[in-house]
Amino acid sequence: MRILAIETSCDDTGIAILEVTETASAKTTEGKTKFKTLASEVSSQIDIHKEYGGVFPALAKREHIKNLPLVLEKVLKEAGMQKMYSTSPLVRGRTGGGKKIDAIAVTTGPGLEPALWTGIVFAKELNEKYKIPIVPVNHMEGHIFSIFPNDKKTFVVENKKENFPMLSLLVSGGHTELVLMKDNPSSSAGKMKYKKIGQTRDDAAGEAFDKVARMLGLSYPGGPEISRLASEERICISSSPAKGRIEEGSDPFAFQALPLGRGRKIEASPLRSLPRPMIYSKDYDFSFSGLKTAVLYLIRDLKEKNPNILEDIKVKQQIACEFENAVVETLVHKTIKAINQYKIKTLIVGGGVSANSYLQEEMVKKIKKEKLKVKVHFPNRKLSGDNAIMIAIAGYFQYKNKKFVKTGKSLKLKADGNMSL
Ligand code: KG4
Ligand code: ZN
Repeated sequence: MRILAIETSCDDTGIAILEVTETASAKTTEGKTKFKTLASEVSSQIDIHKEYGGVFPALAKREHIKNLPLVLEKVLKEAGMQKMYSTSPLVRGRTGGGKKIDAIAVTTGPGLEPALWTGIVFAKELNEKYKIPIVPVNHMEGHIFSIFPNDKKTFVVENKKENFPMLSLLVSGGHTELVLMKDNPSSSAGKMKYKKIGQTRDDAAGEAFDKVARMLGLSYPGGPEISRLASEERICISSSPAKGRIEEGSDPFAFQALPLGRGRKIEASPLRSLPRPMIYSKDYDFSFSGLKTAVLYLIRDLKEKNPNILEDIKVKQQIACEFENAVVETLVHKTIKAINQYKIKTLIVGGGVSANSYLQEEMVKKIKKEKLKVKVHFPNRKLSGDNAIMIAIAGYFQYKNKKFVKTGKSLKLKADGNMSL
């Protein structure tokens, strides 16, 4: 079957067409599903939102509406289907025979509602015009499936019992969560079993990267900018808080003076170290808003002594590095704790922040150090951000589980900005 996917949850307009073949019998719980990307396009709005230092929802909506027909046209051409599905409103229904699209997957949440609606309305129009069922897709589920595609056009989603339980660390601009998958998601018909065991209580990790970048005068999106600065010169003031200094269960928000001398530390610095909020809290929750405020105060104090301090690139590098250390350390610590507690066999790291090289390095290093028998997967760099390929994969399994909306019923489809897994 062929599935067309639409992603408009934030500032990327993504459309993809994938061909799917099942290789296992319908009765077995284990199996391989082969995917072939016939076409995929992402039109990024970064240049438009840069000016505002973040995504401006009304502008995102306007751009999606403008981009969707253009991106669809491009994708249909790439897949050799432009003759069948005309994007012109004057052409009604399918034009001619040949390859057909069997389902339309569309992100219905979570995300910016005005942006989500543009994709949903577009999907509804295609549904009415071509009588193709719609599959609503959770954006975060898409990020989980984003680890499967590689650099090639074809890839396989393997469904092995031995890979479970799985854990997903989802880190993006709007989310930071640890999701447990005890069962085999693509085989348990109609029942994708996700259990959120932890999430951020305030800002998401990506959001914190973006806000701190703004404080440092870096452009949006901040994650890649901070990461670049932090790695240019590995000048950091501190890394791991010494075990025992902050006891498990102690005041999670306490700002501790951390000892120097571990992790990515190189030279003495005029900066003070940053907190790792909630790192030793008993749960799996996160908090990045206090860390962001600590950076704000740090910059304010430094500027009091020298108003031009941020013109010194070394200082910026140090702040970026210390901030990245704090975020990565917290994410890695909680993830490793969950791997141990739930005896995880597979770890998936997804979402925009999963592209962070230091996060990837530290996660792998820590897993090795603790001799954990867990396979860790990160998405291909091109797919760590928002895209429609991941929505097509998640959509296919939902479709297989009969979670689609037929023609005439699509009016019920709604955007849900706070949709949860
Ligand atoms: O998943 P995504 O593309 O969109 C959302 O669903 O939110 O994630 C975007 C977020 C942004 O906050 C961006 O700054 C962050 O991912 N990001 C990074 C890196 N690349 C993107 N954060 C840290 N390091 C990176 N290399
Ligand atoms: Zn995303």
